[in-house]
Amino acid sequence: MAHPKTTKPEVPSTGHEWDGIREYDNPLPRWWLWTFYATIVWGIGYTVAFPAWPMISGATAGLLGYSTRGEVAAEIERVAQANAGIEGRLASVDLAAIADDPALSGFAQNAGASIFANTCAQCHGAGAGGAKGYPNLLDNDWLWGGSLEDIHTTVTHGIRNGTDPEARYSAMPAFGRDGLLERPQVAAVVQYVRQISGQEADAALAAEGAAVFADNCTACHAEDGTGDRAQGAPDLTDAIWLYGGDVATLTETVSGARFGVMPSWGDRLSEAEIRAVASYVHALGGGE
Ligand code: HEC
Ligand code: HEC
Repeated sequence: MAHPKTTKPEVPSTGHEWDGIREYDNPLPRWWLWTFYATIVWGIGYTVAFPAWPMISGATAGLLGYSTRGEVAAEIERVAQANAGIEGRLASVDLAAIADDPALSGFAQNAGASIFANTCAQCHGAGAGGAKGYPNLLDNDWLWGGSLEDIHTTVTHGIRNGTDPEARYSAMPAFGRDGLLERPQVAAVVQYVRQISGQEADAALAAEGAAVFADNCTACHAEDGTGDRAQGAPDLTDAIWLYGGDVATLTETVSGARFGVMPSWGDRLSEAEIRAVASYVHALGGGE
């Protein structure tokens, strides 16, 4: 077969040849070459202007001083500036006035929800429903009080944390472990607690337990067993349990006590943040 006529000038060969195929020594196309040079120039310029070369610690900073971290810091600063006015107001008004100001309470709800997700949800649950030992914050059953003021105090100082001198504090004795009550007395008072909380109970044991209760428990849980918020002593007559109302759990609570601990947030959250999260909890449904 004849080769078609070519108008291309004869191009020298590189001298490489494989199975009869020869390699032409064509010059690189101009446009390609210039683009290539341009990328080299741009690349050098970029590494001079922006952070680029890894060094032993960190990288070259670049003449423009750009950093993504700096951008984030600037963005945070911008948001902080934008919120400074309303945060200042939230931190300084009367607690009771927050709910009356729609702008303020709206801001507190939004900010409070995100603070709750970050700092409270790991203990109280994402929906604030609580877990064994971690109170449900949705209901209107409160250990230490459910007014905005009470919640604000609880969040600021925490509970039994040993780090905040103003933390809420009380300690139920470990009646069994510390030998304050004999085993049968514990069993009896447990039946009494079952009875006053409206659960199935052994009537004879419960009658014995009533006396044990009157002697040992009423100082904190009150004579009728409805508890005392000044001491964070739960109401034992309702169906809401912090640890549990079955015989085994009650026996464990009375024998060993519990001593639930909550950290204080006064040194980790700003006053505006504490008010925001307290307002959020207060509005969850059980606020008083
Ligand atoms: C490390 C776990 C933990 C974290 C985190 C935590 N709490 Fe608590 N919180 C507890 C425990 C435990 C109690 C119950 C202590 C007790 O037995 O009195 C409690 C009690 C409370 C109470 C009192 C409830 C009542 O019935 O009186 C409120 C209000 C509360 N927490 C709000 C918060 C808020 C708001 C946050 C986030 C800023 C938070 N908690 C973070 C563990 C935690
Ligand atoms: C010094 C105060 C105090 C005394 C006295 C006391 N308690 Fe308590 N009790 C508490 C507190 C505070 C709690 C909250 C749990 C904690 O410590 O974390 C509690 C919790 C409980 C609970 C757990 C309730 C739940 O929701 O799970 C039971 C049950 C209970 N007490 C029964 C008793 C009985 C029975 C006695 C008497 C034999 C007694 N308590 C005496 C302070 C007291």
